[in-house]
Amino acid sequence: MAPRIILIGPMGSGKSTVGQKLAADLSTIFRDTDQMIVAQSGREISDIFIEDGEEAFRALEKIILRTALLEDGAVLALGGGACMSVDAQSALRASGAFIVYLKISLASVSSRVGFNQGRPLLMGNPRAQWQALMNERAPIYEGLASYSAEVDNKSVEEIADEIAFAFDLRSRGTIDG
Ligand code: S3P
Repeated sequence: MAPRIILIGPMGSGKSTVGQKLAADLSTIFRDTDQMIVAQSGREISDIFIEDGEEAFRALEKIILRTALLEDGAVLALGGGACMSVDAQSALRASGAFIVYLKISLASVSSRVGFNQGRPLLMGNPRAQWQALMNERAPIYEGLASYSAEVDNKSVEEIADEIAFAFDLRSRGTIDG
């Protein structure tokens, strides 16, 4: 078995907040690969990036993703880059989970207070860095997703409800993915 719902998408799209609400609504556990990395290593993500480098972080993330994919029935939020490797993409597809892409615009993400805090990949010019990553990653998020949820101008409750509804339809076999 595997997680029931997996949230993917860029930094600042609200995966953790929406994931927690969704898990509470579905009375299941919530997991987050970033939180698991911090708990396991005892270090902040930004410290791992700065002290050990991105490659070391990705290696840790890969191991954590494997563990997280064993978490039965959970709602799982992935760090924005956790689904970039071909291996991760195959494992995610093989999990059979309902994969949801939280789609957000640069305008909405940049108005979020502190969206770059603790995010080493956005250091320097957060808006430009975020957009550059999205240009590269959006096709991967789109290709992996069973469902895309537009999150601009929606509340956490609205997004969680929308995903729960789409998940229910998928479970009844009404939509593919
Ligand atoms: C990253 C996203 C972050 C975190 C790390 C790298 C990325 O997670 O894993 O800073 O490569 O997009 P969030 O998407 O939860 O911010």
